Amino acid sequence: MKRFEGKVAIVTGAGSGIGRATALRLAGEGARVVVVDWNEQTGAETLDLLTQVGGDGMFLHRDISKVADTESIVADTVARFGQLNVLVNNAGIIIEKNAVDTTEADWDQLIGVNLKGAFFCAKNAILQFRRQGTGGSIVNVASINTYYAEGGIAVYCITKGGLGQLTRALAMDHSAEGIRVNAVCPGWIETPLNKNFLAIGPHIREQVGRMHAIGRIGQPEEVATAVSYLASDEASFITGALLAVDGGITAGLAPTLGVVL
Ligand code: NAI
Repeated sequence: MKRFEGKVAIVTGAGSGIGRATALRLAGEGARVVVVDWNEQTGAETLDLLTQVGGDGMFLHRDISKVADTESIVADTVARFGQLNVLVNNAGIIIEKNAVDTTEADWDQLIGVNLKGAFFCAKNAILQFRRQGTGGSIVNVASINTYYAEGGIAVYCITKGGLGQLTRALAMDHSAEGIRVNAVCPGWIETPLNKNFLAIGPHIREQVGRMHAIGRIGQPEEVATAVSYLASDEASFITGALLAVDGGITAGLAPTLGVVL
């Protein structure tokens, strides 16, 4: 039997990158997957890809920074599939600015998507898990910036740090009722989020790759595998955990040496 047979999963930001890979992975493991994205075209494409490989699901065109949308995501999922078992809080944006360049609009957008959106998706999922009396699993897609800050992306770092605490706080409050809450913290993953930076030239890709102990950047599928594990019943005694999926970038001195050597 497949790991998510009979289960229903919501993946936010599933129109691209890590979210798309996760939606396909969960569908491949038997879940019915609700693809959520504010990009109508790419979200629909993910649903197409998912059905092409025999998966079942639906696409919801929503903006998770709006609380009403986070409510309707869960309501529409239950109306269509009758239940909810897994939430993957993946949707996220980055704005490359330090603090002094950051405007109120930048702040509101970053906090709105990366933190407020994740929080209210989680809240509405938890309410549904309670109604069902089944428990459930939430996986947040955080970052290496949950552990360490990086120059030029101040508010992004703040949101990802907050997502780490959101993971722990929700785990403290809800694990006793069978709701596990965990996070993955990816290193540099090849997705549209950072394609402009990586496209500067092959030397950038090589240097960024060497920051990781493994010596290369990662692929979305390598994060999806970890999300799938944490979301599954195989991770039944894991909650409040932050799992680095970062090729060893946060393991120690290797990243620094990698750049120097
Ligand atoms: P991506 O840009 O390829 O995909 C993000 C998706 O989220 C897009 O389809 C976008 O339309 C959607 N989205 C953004 N805001 C939304 C909103 N308000 N409502 C609904 N959908 C929305 O990015 P990627 O790289 O796949 O990132 C996914 C997550 O992984 C993000 O939370 C990001 O911060 C995190 N991450 C990515 C890393 C990387 O190197 N790519 C490294 C560490 C973390």
